[in-house]
Formats: sequence, structure tokens, C-alpha cells
Amino acid sequence: MPYSDLAARWAFLLAGLAIGESRISARGDHSAMIAALGALGATARQAPDSTWVINGRGIGALTEPDTVLDVGADGWLLAALAGLLASHPIFAVLTGAASLPAGMKAMLQLIGARVQQPASLGMPMAIAGARDALPIDIEVTETNLAVTALVAGLNARGTTRLAFTGTVLPPMIAHGITTLRGFGAEVSDTVEAGQRVILLRGQPDLRCVVRPALVIAVDGPAAAGKGTLARRLAAEFGLPYLDTGLLYRAVARLVFDAGGDPGDEDAATGAARRLRPEDTARSDLRGPPVDGAASQVGAYPAVRAALVDFQRQFARAKGGVLDGRDIGTVIFPDAPIKFFVTASPSARSRRRWLELQARGVAADLDQISADMRVRDANDAARAAAPMQAAADAILLDTTDLDADGAFEFAAEAVRARF
Ligand code: CDP
Repeated sequence: MPYSDLAARWAFLLAGLAIGESRISARGDHSAMIAALGALGATARQAPDSTWVINGRGIGALTEPDTVLDVGADGWLLAALAGLLASHPIFAVLTGAASLPAGMKAMLQLIGARVQQPASLGMPMAIAGARDALPIDIEVTETNLAVTALVAGLNARGTTRLAFTGTVLPPMIAHGITTLRGFGAEVSDTVEAGQRVILLRGQPDLRCVVRPALVIAVDGPAAAGKGTLARRLAAEFGLPYLDTGLLYRAVARLVFDAGGDPGDEDAATGAARRLRPEDTARSDLRGPPVDGAASQVGAYPAVRAALVDFQRQFARAKGGVLDGRDIGTVIFPDAPIKFFVTASPSARSRRRWLELQARGVAADLDQISADMRVRDANDAARAAAPMQAAADAILLDTTDLDADGAFEFAAEAVRARF
């Protein structure tokens, strides 16, 4: 499944520790982690759709590397590998430009490892890991030490305990906990006396993670901010984006081009069946005549039926963020995360007016407002796939939110779920 950058790092590591095949799609450069996992006995390859396919050997089953493990400048990778090596009875040398946090050496020794490093420099560091790793119990002052403790705790006998001052976890640890749980580790997260306390049970049977590509559905009325939000979510989570409104707009445009009437169901259906992906890239799909006509053609069940496969195929291989009116209800009713974006009618009319102004199109606010009212009523009242919030959609009212605010809210909801 697609992971945000922070979660992806945990996912690669855990996939390398789960027995069997996991599939992960993630952006970014994970080559140092993949090289290290390879040296420790896991295999990783990239499938043609660019998903990573990782085969792990299981916690406790790492092989001793016959090369030095280079972490580059990556402090997280150093912390994670140090935890991994300290908790397995193997000998390995870590090198790289990353600096060793104060207290790391002492922590590795508490786990039961023997550590050697040049007196003044952090790296290279030679680690002879523990035969029976001991669980750690610490008050966390440095996030990377918590990473080391969590990773080592996976192969420790007993329960690792981390206490964070304050009630907010560093994002790196929050993502770690969510991802650990996704792989089947037992992690509890409670607030005790003003501290956030994490307990991790050692030696779990991690399960492989093979999940279908992530689909995020974004529905809602005209000019509620769906497009901006969907585009930013797509960029954040490395997913393709499809504005499904363009399909209906292009159908309406094809009807006009052929001298037809969008109120003619047969003409609209014929256009929907002829639609090619490049038709949605035209520059004349926005503006008053097409707005209303798109809504008209979108009311015909045969038009909608002709466009279903295109939308489902779009997200089949890599997932995607799709915005429209019926994504969460009809096109992807099983999407794991759905948003229904609304805003007050006056906020929406004003946004559309500003949008047109910015494009240099003269427009009248009252007229926009009236057109939008008609279109929303038509979209909500039609029998075929009416615009409505799916029962499991997250409602997002953007009347008083700017684009950043809406994005932050939605991105957090996606992260919290995965
Ligand atoms: O950009 P705006 O929100 O104004 O509209 P759009 O998303 O481009 O959609 C234009 C019209 O296409 C809508 O009024 C709907 O009637 C129709 N549509 C639909 O029926 N189903 C979708 N999934 C997307 C759009």
C-alpha cells in the first residue's frame, strides 16, 4: 500500500522482518534501507508497477552481513539498524556520516550488545548483538533512541516501555506505532500522569502486508474545494489523481461539438461511449455552457455506466485520489477513506467567482450563485448515483477553512487511518 515517507521507512524495515512477501508502494529513495535489509538476508525487488516486493526471513532470523552497512547521513536508519543488530546474535559494522545520539552506546549495552567504536568518533561502530536481547524501559529524550528501543524490542524477551514527556508523540514514533500495528505487533499507547507511555511486546509473529492500492474518494458539491484538496492529497501520498468531473464535462463538450443537445439522452450516451482519455485534457471544459450541460448528461444512467470502467481502471494498479459526486457511493464503495467536502453556498459561489476572475473570465456573482444552485439541486436529486455523502465518509466543511487547513485536516485523517 502507499505509505507516507515516515511510515514507509518503518514499513520497509518491518517487511524485512516479517516471514514471507510484503508489497509496499512508497515514494522517495529507500536504497540504503533496501541494501541493508539485503545484507541481513531479506530480498527486495521492484515490480513493474514500481511497488516494492520484500521477502523477509522473520524476527530473530537475520543473517550476518558480510559487508559494512552504510547508513549515509540518515540518523533514523542508523538508529533502526543499531536496534536490529543489538537484538540479534550477529556481528556487524555500521558506517556513514550520521551522528550517533548521546546515550546510544549505553542503550545498546543495556540491550545486551557489545559495542566498539573509535573513542572520539561515533562511526564506524561495530556491534556484536545479544543472544537474548533485554527489553528497554526508558524516559525518551531523543526520538532516535526511541526508534532503537522499539526496533530492538521486537526481538527482546518481554515488554519494552517508552515514556514520552507530554502527551504528543513525535511523528516518527506515531508512524512507527501505526505501522507496527499494521504488521501485527502488539503495541499499547496510553497517557499516564501526563506522560505518553508506549508498551511493545517482544517477539511477535509479524504478518506480511499485502494490501490493494489505496483509493481516496473525495465527493461534494460544486466549488467546495474538492479538486484542490484531492490534488494535494495525491501529491502527499504519491497517488495518481483523477478529476472525474472532467469526464462529464468532456461528454457534454463532445455533444456540443457534434451540434447535439445535452438534453438528448442518446446523443449523450453515444458521446460517453466514444470518450477517449485525451478528451478530458481539452481547455474548453470549464465555464457556464459546459457546467450545466455536464450536470445534465451526468443524470443519464447509460452515460454514468459508460464511465464506470474508466474510473475503476484508473486506480486499479496504483490506487488514486478521485474527486466527484459518487466516488464513495458508487465507483469505489469500498474505498478505505472517503471525504465529503462541503461549504456554504455563498462561500462556494464566491470561490468560483474568484477562480473565474483569476482566469480572466468576466462573471457575475449572482449568476454563478443561481447556476450553482440549479446544478447542485440537479446533482442531488437525480435518480442515478445522486450526489450524497457515503455513510462512512468523513464530512469536511471548508466554509471557514483555507486550502491549507482543509489539506492538513484530511491528510491527518488519512495518516490516522493507516
Ligand atoms: O468543478 P465543479 O465542482 O463545479 O464540477 P465538476 O466536479 O467538474 O463536475 C461537473 C458536473 O459533472 C457536476 O455538476 C455533476 O453533475 C457531474 N459529475 C457527476 O455527476 N459525477 C461525478 N463523479 C463528477 C461530476
